Amino acid sequence: MAHRWTNDLTRANVTPKPLYLNRRQIMRGAAGLGLASAFGGPVAAQAGALEPNTFEEITTYNNFYEFGTGKEDPARNAGALEIEPWSIKVDGLVDSPGEYSLAELLDGLTEEERIYRFRCVEAWSMVIPWRGYELADILTRVGVKPEARYVAFETVVQEENMPGVRRRVIPFPYVEGLRIDEAMHPLTLMATGIYDEPMPKQNGAPIRLVVPWKYGFKSIKSIVRISLVEDEPPASWNVINPREYGFYSNVNPTVDHPRWSQATERRIGGGLFASRQETLMFNGYESEVASLYEDMDLSEYF
Ligand code: MTE
Repeated sequence: MAHRWTNDLTRANVTPKPLYLNRRQIMRGAAGLGLASAFGGPVAAQAGALEPNTFEEITTYNNFYEFGTGKEDPARNAGALEIEPWSIKVDGLVDSPGEYSLAELLDGLTEEERIYRFRCVEAWSMVIPWRGYELADILTRVGVKPEARYVAFETVVQEENMPGVRRRVIPFPYVEGLRIDEAMHPLTLMATGIYDEPMPKQNGAPIRLVVPWKYGFKSIKSIVRISLVEDEPPASWNVINPREYGFYSNVNPTVDHPRWSQATERRIGGGLFASRQETLMFNGYESEVASLYEDMDLSEYF
């Protein structure tokens, strides 16, 4: 289809599976054998700038406050999340509202692999090979009414399985929202896997949003409700601290977080070769998404 987006980071950049599972050990071994240049010379370090993070990095350094506020808490605690059966309630301004099983929502749609830069508001970043479905395909399947201007999302609450919910570290359910044109953009993915694995629980199993030109907190996990609405819906961090987190949350090196610069980022992983990088406008997706914000003052709508 003409509208589909194509990866600039291709499968050729992805480390083969035996390597992504233990690249660190291999690099250590290679260094020991005096072969480090094969993996880590200056040229490799450059190419490494867009090389996907390892499966281990992607699944052990997470934000999922339902399971605790520490980066390692989700990997430790999210095993308790119950994901079978899973259904998503679709309501609001849609032609076919209802409670859909994942199969009902996704069967027959195209699952794609998308290797996206992922930039967190805390100024770290990764490159992640997601698998998933364009949100636009799912919304088209349920039929969006013309009055719908925003899409609202909600994460599951399983109090008995979620220590962060029991401690009420932030208000739950975690909620997020997109403007309808952002939601229909071909870059916007409902992700169901990482590398060749089903979505790990700590990353938002069985299905989570990925919006690569926005800070990571817009990418809501473990979604159980999608609502088409007329007015701008609440978004968790915007509700918790509106001065620091706007509704749009576009990656923008020229608009600082009130407490820190957003001009550079630190790549997670990479060991010795890790370095701070300049953050790109819209996280590198400027040519694809800048037109969505043409007439907006992005320092006001941050
Ligand atoms: N979704 C829910 N339900 N709860 C959360 O705490 N954290 C957000 C986002 N989605 C969060 C969430 C934040 S702050 C980030 S940076 C990303 O998830 C992290 O995604 P990752 O752990 O897959 O890297």
